[in-house]
Amino acid sequence: MENFTYLNPTKIVFGKDTVKDIGKNLYKFGSKKVLLLYGKGSIKKNGVYDTVVNSLKEKNIDFVEVSGVKPNPVLTKVHEAIKIAREQEIDGILAVGGGSVIDSAKAIAAGFYYDGDVWDFFEGKAKPYKGLPIFTVLTISATGSEMNSGGVITNEKENKKWAFGSPLVYPKVSIIDPTVQYSLPRNQTINGGIDAMTHVFELYFDKTKNNDIMDEVSEGIIRTVMKHIPVLLKDPKNYESRANLAWSATLALNRINGTGRQGGDWSSHMIEHSLSAFYDVSHGAGLAVIAPAWMKYVYKEDISKWVRFAEKIFNIHDGTDEEKALKGIDKLIEFYKKIGAPTTLKKLNIIEDDLEKIANNAALLCPMGNMKKLEKDDVLNILKIAYE
Ligand code: NZQ
Ligand code: ZN
Repeated sequence: MENFTYLNPTKIVFGKDTVKDIGKNLYKFGSKKVLLLYGKGSIKKNGVYDTVVNSLKEKNIDFVEVSGVKPNPVLTKVHEAIKIAREQEIDGILAVGGGSVIDSAKAIAAGFYYDGDVWDFFEGKAKPYKGLPIFTVLTISATGSEMNSGGVITNEKENKKWAFGSPLVYPKVSIIDPTVQYSLPRNQTINGGIDAMTHVFELYFDKTKNNDIMDEVSEGIIRTVMKHIPVLLKDPKNYESRANLAWSATLALNRINGTGRQGGDWSSHMIEHSLSAFYDVSHGAGLAVIAPAWMKYVYKEDISKWVRFAEKIFNIHDGTDEEKALKGIDKLIEFYKKIGAPTTLKKLNIIEDDLEKIANNAALLCPMGNMKKLEKDDVLNILKIAYE
């Protein structure tokens, strides 16, 4: 196990009927006027918006709305919101939505105090030195953004979908009410589950040895997600399954699962981000295709880990190490097919001639990965494996 320090300052309020507690939490924090940030309107259809607004009104907390944050959120929206936040002199951000809204809130929070362009944080040209306090009401479990310090934004002019991170943007409080996810479209439940599983893969397959405790936790998260997605596809309002999936997704990327490791691999994510920089592909759907292709390309770097994965997740005990490792990856793809996730780039309607362009985009971040250091040609090879 590697040395580590761990601190996560986000307070989680989890469970049924907890959205109405947001006003109380903001009040305790001392917020007077917040930027209420949300997406394209699902919160108006499922009642979350009304509950949030009533809860703010009860505590006399003023708010200014910015809506229309899109999935794969963009920099221009972040710029627009920073401008409004400054003009309106808000003292905090309340993000109501999924990873896209919360990530935008993080960029706005850090950009609010910065004289230059917030994109500098993503390019590594500057570091946030102060951040507005962030509060979230999570409406889709997937990214873990509700309890971590990272954010991913697309600079649409430059086709760069990049991440930044700072301890200053951990949400202060996140409300996770699994019942608000009853209204999720089927594909978003699938995408969210796959994103959570892939966060675990990124950390689990990173060459660290003797971290049994976190490997067991990782396997537990993977098995839990795999158990509950199929239940939810038949019964979207199954509370226990929503709750198990929700907490699994948070635990997958609140850094606990990364403790004692070498930092994870993250190539599948970086390649997927390049894919969704050009195509409006849902993050989870892109990962369903890219992560297994990455596994096929790199498993020989640490075959014992893929043997363990096959044994612990799919009960595969027969065959040589090579056979077991490959069978485990095939079983994962089979599971993705069974739940209706795309498993090839072709199914995502990616044009084959664009693979080079996507690889070139990802190459801006090369060498990438820890399991195997990938260069541009490796990325292209992975995209070719993923194609059909
Ligand atoms: O826009 P609205 O109307 O809110 O609709 C959203 C959106 O269309 C909808 N939705 C959310 N909650 C709903 C709902 N529809 C009905 N009922 C509900 N309760 O779902 C769609 C997807 O929302 P989005 O926020 O984009 O999903 P997700 O949470 O998967 O976030 C994906 C983004 O996060 C980034 C991804 O790259 C992507 O841009 N990531 C962020 C990470 C982080 N901060 O740690 C790590 C991840 O690996 C990831 O890269
Ligand atoms: Zn992800």
